[in-house]
Parts: sequence; structure tokens; C-alpha cells
Amino acid sequence: MRDLAGKVAVITGAGSGVGLEFARAAVRHRMKLVLGDVQEDALEAAVKEVRAAGAEAVGVRVDVSKAEDVKRLADRALESFAEVHLLFNNAGVAGGGGYLWESRLADWQWLLGVNVMGVVHGIRNFVPLMVEQDCDCHIVNTASAAGLVSAPLMGVYNVSKHAVVTISETLFHDLRVARSRIGVSVLCPAFVPTGISDSERNRPEDLVDRAPPTESQLMARKQSEKAVSSGRLTAAEVAHKTFQAVREDRFYVITHPKLLGSVELRLQDIVQQRQPSDPFTYKPNVKPG
Ligand SMILES: NC(=O)c1ccc[n+]([C@@H]2O[C@H](COP(=O)([O-])OP(=O)(O)OC[C@H]3O[C@@H](n4cnc5c(N)ncnc54)[C@H](O)[C@@H]3O)[C@@H](O)[C@H]2O)c1
Repeated sequence: MRDLAGKVAVITGAGSGVGLEFARAAVRHRMKLVLGDVQEDALEAAVKEVRAAGAEAVGVRVDVSKAEDVKRLADRALESFAEVHLLFNNAGVAGGGGYLWESRLADWQWLLGVNVMGVVHGIRNFVPLMVEQDCDCHIVNTASAAGLVSAPLMGVYNVSKHAVVTISETLFHDLRVARSRIGVSVLCPAFVPTGISDSERNRPEDLVDRAPPTESQLMARKQSEKAVSSGRLTAAEVAHKTFQAVREDRFYVITHPKLLGSVELRLQDIVQQRQPSDPFTYKPNVKPG
């Protein structure tokens, strides 16, 4: 999608971090905006900001883990602007770190609900309407470096983000089979300082597990807080690189190229059928233990 001016962008998780920067970048590209987020105050502030910057924008409170909420997001987008051209399936949460065998069922339900089913609901509701429009459209799914390598102590998050990578790759292939013009990108950033370490703020009450954290869970929390806060690339830079990829119709958006050394090692491990290599060769300072 070369020409973005006047087109309609839908962004989930638009109230903070990478999603908010997508919204700001879309304003600079003179797009119309549909912003979705589960956190009402953050959503309201984002809508207010982009309108003040001159954009036509609507905000929809949406929990992306719920099919009916994402359907409502698509309905509101069509009611407001009649078309949708660029979709960011971006809302995501982190947590549930620690040894896999100690991970809580509530963590699996929460992370897979938001990070995986959120993307699934986005695809099920928006791809058919984009196919019908039959014009240049693009979908960006926010995965993570955690979708390309399997770092220890973050198994639940790794599973959710590996799922987003394969969903995106399959979507790309399905759309080619269907002879569709819709472009797809999968965004795989490493650590970026955003509100992600404080994801618990939006965890639904019924998915809270009040058992005290284990040693491995405490270790995981420390590791991820350190890694996220030490990330040098800003969310604004991640958004800028993503918009470049959309305009160039590039599928893999690798914002931290050092990561590719670890990805290559993993793929070589598979090809050579040897034991998995250290997944943290690209970020040795956050190695646990
Ligand atoms: N920050 C990082 O280090 C990093 C690295 C790789 C990938 N990511 C991914 O980037 C995406 C954006 O995260 P971020 O880093 O900007 O974090 P963030 O916490 O700053 O922003 C996430 C936004 O998603 C919203 N959200 C949470 N649950 C939701 C739900 N159920 N429905 C709708 N909205 C919901 C939050 O309210 C928040 O506004 C996520 O998918 C995350 O997994 C982040």
C-alpha cells in the first residue's frame, strides 16, 4: 500500500506503546482512524490526541479476546468510514513467565485469548470485508522476537507469538491462493520500552491467579522487566519501520536485526537436527540465571 492518505486504519491496543505510535504515524500519513483498546481512559486520551492533531477518528472499547467485541469494532469502522484499508492486530499482553510446568492455567487462557484469539478475530472479521472491497489493503499482525526463537522462562508468551507468526504466514499463502490483493506483514520486535511489563493492569478479574509466585516466576518477571526497560529502540521507531514495510509490501518486519543471528542458529539447529542453541545470543545481558 503505497498511498495511505485518506485511507482508513484500524488499530487494536491503540491506547499505549506500539499501538499508540501506530496511531500517531497514521495521523502523519493523513489516514482516518478507528482506535480500539480495552483500557477506556487510555483509549479516550488517544482519540483526543489524534483528533487534536487533525485526524478523523473514532474510539471503540474492545476486548480483542472476545469475538463479539471485534465484530463490533468492524461494524463501527464500516458505519463511520464505509471502508477499512489497513488493520493492525496489535493488542497484546505479557505475563505467565517462569518454568512451563509451573505456568498457571489462567495465564494460558489470558495470553492465548488476547495474543492469539485477538488476531484470529481480527482476521475473521476484517479479511472478508477487505476481500469484498477489492482494493489495496494490508494487515499487520504484531508478533514478537518471541515468535521466532524460544527463550526460557517465557513459554506461554512464546507459544502465543509463534502462533501469530504462523497465522500471518498462513494468511499470506491463503490470500495468494485466493488471488487476493491484500498484503500482510508480521511485526517481530525484540524488547521495546512500553507499558507491556505492566500488562496485568488489564487482566480480567476472572483470570487472576492469586497463588504466590514461584522462584522461576519471580526470575522471569525480573528478566523481562530488565529487558523491556533496557530496550533502546523506541515504540515510535518501531511504528516508523512498520509503516515503511507496509508501503513496501514487506512481510517480515524485523526491527532488531541482531535477533536474526539467533533465528538463523535456530533454523540451522532444525536443519542439522542438533540440540537447540542458546536463544539469547542476540541479547546476552538479559540471560536468566
Ligand atoms: N514492548 C515490547 O517489548 C514488545 C516486544 C515484542 C512484541 N510486543 C507486542 O507489541 C504489542 C503492543 O504491546 P506494547 O509493547 O505496546 O504494550 P502496551 O502495554 O504499552 O500496549 C498494549 C495495549 O494493548 C491494550 N490491551 C491489552 N489487552 C487488551 C485486550 N484484551 N483487548 C484490547 N486491547 C488490549 C492495552 O490496554 C494497551 O493499550 C503486543 O502485541 C506485544 O506483545 C511488545
